[in-house]
Amino acid sequence: MKRIETIAELQKELSICKSQGLSVGLVPTMGSLHNGHITLVKRCAQENGVCVVSVFVNPTQFNDQNDLKTYPRTPEEDCSKLEKAGCNFVFMPAVEEMYPEPDTRQFNFGNLQTVMEGRFRPGHFNGVAQIVSKLLTTVKPDKAYFGEKDFQQLAIVREMVRQLRLPVTIVPCPIVRESDGLAMSSRNKRLSAAEREKAPLIAGLLSKSRTFASVKSVSETIEFVKKGLAEDPAFRVEYFEIVDGNTLQAVESWNSSDYIVGCIAVFCGPVRLIDNIVYKTC
Ligand code: PAJ
Repeated sequence: MKRIETIAELQKELSICKSQGLSVGLVPTMGSLHNGHITLVKRCAQENGVCVVSVFVNPTQFNDQNDLKTYPRTPEEDCSKLEKAGCNFVFMPAVEEMYPEPDTRQFNFGNLQTVMEGRFRPGHFNGVAQIVSKLLTTVKPDKAYFGEKDFQQLAIVREMVRQLRLPVTIVPCPIVRESDGLAMSSRNKRLSAAEREKAPLIAGLLSKSRTFASVKSVSETIEFVKKGLAEDPAFRVEYFEIVDGNTLQAVESWNSSDYIVGCIAVFCGPVRLIDNIVYKTC
């Protein structure tokens, strides 16, 4: 595995690989890697001749400067995990390498960006689109891998690829969970021992709500999850919405769409966690 810090060097290496006819896969990450990330990397390495992983804490997607400052960074551990997972090139650029000048592009993702995360984290998806478009045009991968854990991000990336007509296949990857159900996240490290013990309630309620949903309405199902979390003051739900999986707009009934997903953002103590569950799929 080679560790690369500049776009020029990465492109030089990749042009050699591409001239040998190797397909290229990319997994964009912000590092502090856990098994959720590593599952994407292993799949990328399996499905492509060359596996590239970017590790870059992208400043433009943080709407809270303190969150950016305290975002966990573990480059050495990341590299050893990536090497074991079959990564060929890890791209770890400095901020100036990706943003030699401010990126003033304003994307318009319409209704996809105004709901859920977009409502509570203004500017976040514009920053995600800025960095992901730079990475995709730098690496020019055949396939790029994104987790369904960040369900709205995946929808935004697909829409950006469509708008910019980028020649890449976006590969969605299932949520990887801890054995107690908690969705893996770099932020889980910030939970206190007591909070970590409580956090699996989120996934537990989402899972139970699927059974509940088979005999109850959409609004009753929303109440079921919200009330379940309200019973413990450690939790504060920011949103729980049941939406069309393609448009991300709230549905009123289970008949409104054939692809329905519930998306939640909830504070567990000071840590903001997100998760989602598919209720209906075609
Ligand atoms: P990051 O949070 O590091 O996540 C990198 C990728 O790993 C994302 O596609 C995310 O959905 C996926 N991922 C994280 N936890 C997962 C889990 N438990 N199961 C499955 N996939 C999981 O998302 C970002 O970084 C950034 O916004 C980025 C796309 C890199 C742009 O800066």
